[in-house]
Amino acid sequence: MEHLTTKLKMFLLLLMFSSAVILQSCYKDNEEDLYPGPDECNTENISFSQTIMPVITNNCVSCHSGAAPSGGLSLSNHTEVVTSIDGGRFMGAIRHESGFSAMPQGGAKLSDCVISQIEAWIEQGKKNN
Ligand code: HEC
Repeated sequence: MEHLTTKLKMFLLLLMFSSAVILQSCYKDNEEDLYPGPDECNTENISFSQTIMPVITNNCVSCHSGAAPSGGLSLSNHTEVVTSIDGGRFMGAIRHESGFSAMPQGGAKLSDCVISQIEAWIEQGKKNN
């Protein structure tokens, strides 16, 4: 009887320990997904509709759309964005390179992460995904 109780105690301890480990790792996974750290920037499989267009809508479309878009450049959909990138002025403008007009005009430069996500999306084929 004494022997059994010890085994049972050991088993329970082991069970508690392993569930604590499992719970801990789940918690960590979720935390990383929900709150990516400042040095984490996801550049894998960038989606145009989920990642790129929201940035352009929030930072560019106020000037670059409508009947008379600034600089004669409209950026209100995938085709127009791709046309502008292929025209060769887009990346220099958002990277604030010399010889280009810094964009968004009058606003803060896009974050390094957002710029690298745009670069990644271009490398991944400028898909309308
Ligand atoms: C407040 C208005 C405004 C906003 C916001 C704005 N632009 Fe512009 N953009 C302009 C004007 C005006 C021009 C044309 C005059 C010039 O080149 O400075 C221009 C020109 C450009 C050009 C041509 C630049 C060149 O050097 O040939 C590109 C590319 C461009 N914008 C992209 C963007 C992108 C991408 C965004 C968002 C990240 C953006 N713009 C946000 C007003 C704006």
